[in-house]
Amino acid sequence: MKSSSEFERDLFPEQPGRTGRRSEDNEREMLRLLVETLQDYAIFTLDPEGRVLTWNQGAERILGHRAEEIVGQHFSRFFTEADRERGIPDEDLRAATRDGRHQEEGLRVRADGSTFWAQGTTTSLRARDGRTRAYSKIVRDITDRKQAERALKDRAEEVEQLADERARLVLELLDAEERERRRISQALHDEALQNLLAASQDVQEAERGGVPPSEALGRIKAPLERSIQQLRDTSLELHPLLLESRGLTVALDAIATGAATLAGFRASVRVDREVAGINDQLVLSIARELLVNAAKHSQATRVSVTVERRGESVEVRVTDDGVGIPAARREEAWEGGHMGLASLSGRLDAVGGSLELSSGPNSGTIAVAKFPSGADRRST
Ligand SMILES: Nc1ncnc2c1ncn2[C@@H]1O[C@H](COP(=O)(O)OP(=O)(O)OP(=O)(O)O)[C@@H](O)[C@H]1O
Ligand SMILES: [Mg+2]
Repeated sequence: MKSSSEFERDLFPEQPGRTGRRSEDNEREMLRLLVETLQDYAIFTLDPEGRVLTWNQGAERILGHRAEEIVGQHFSRFFTEADRERGIPDEDLRAATRDGRHQEEGLRVRADGSTFWAQGTTTSLRARDGRTRAYSKIVRDITDRKQAERALKDRAEEVEQLADERARLVLELLDAEERERRRISQALHDEALQNLLAASQDVQEAERGGVPPSEALGRIKAPLERSIQQLRDTSLELHPLLLESRGLTVALDAIATGAATLAGFRASVRVDREVAGINDQLVLSIARELLVNAAKHSQATRVSVTVERRGESVEVRVTDDGVGIPAARREEAWEGGHMGLASLSGRLDAVGGSLELSSGPNSGTIAVAKFPSGADRRST
């Protein structure tokens, strides 16, 4: 086996007649020592077939083989089996022969079988006739850099996910606000406005002498009272002054009474005292959707609303004794653009809560919404 300096002499023979041989020898010796003792780089040479010719201390440190056991072995053993099957080692030498120099990054295998990320540069060492006589290889362990790059990439992905999630929540919020606005506008149009129009017609008829004023007054009394009630409820919903001044129970009572009057059921409301004041807005919007659903769809005669604290969670339960929700109905409703329950369920999910519905044919519906106490403060 040749030593590295013998090999070097073969590759670059002395030219006859050159002077300063002694100082050249010294320089070579210095260079050899430098290469041999470099610790941070694996520096080795390969013969044209890819067998190891020389091996420095850095190579021993990084790849784990001692010079005496690796010289003469094929360098493909530093590659993973998958890379060997893909022909990467051969391609490495081919590219260096073609281009003079070839750089690549990949996983490399140490003597003990463990792997690390490496950056390698292969240079073809050509003799004076231009033919590749050997290759030099410089390999650096870049595991730290790769890990830092991966951590950065993971972080970037995380930030992207958070941004997506935030965008989704904003959309959901806008969607919920839009639905609320539509509902309130529809309620004002369908009830208060119709009642006031009917009252106005009665007044006009009395003015024209069509009906006696006493009869007209009698007729407009009820629609006027309903309109007053409805405008009061709506103004409460638009700005929950009542909620601020008189609390959750009164505000919930007002919504339940509104739904009960609309649909003709009896409503009861019970609120745990320790829950009130913490998540009032969220509790109100849950109860409103479930009560309006009961009014629109259930044909119930009784509906109850309870708001309770369960450990760290708040539970809003709306139970009716109506027709129940057929299993397929929720899917159909969603496809038909009715998304009250789906949107409520999404909002609860977003704050770490849940919505469960249980219902059988003609056994009514139990809707249970749960969320961690304080959730609406975190979500806004
Ligand atoms: N308490 C209930 N009793 C019987 N059926 C119900 C009840 N609640 C909901 N449903 C049924 O489930 C469907 C889905 O309810 P959801 O609240 O998602 O939509 P919606 O009330 O029809 O429309 P939106 O809420 O968008 O105004 C309803 O269309 C209705 O058929
Ligand atoms: Mg609904």
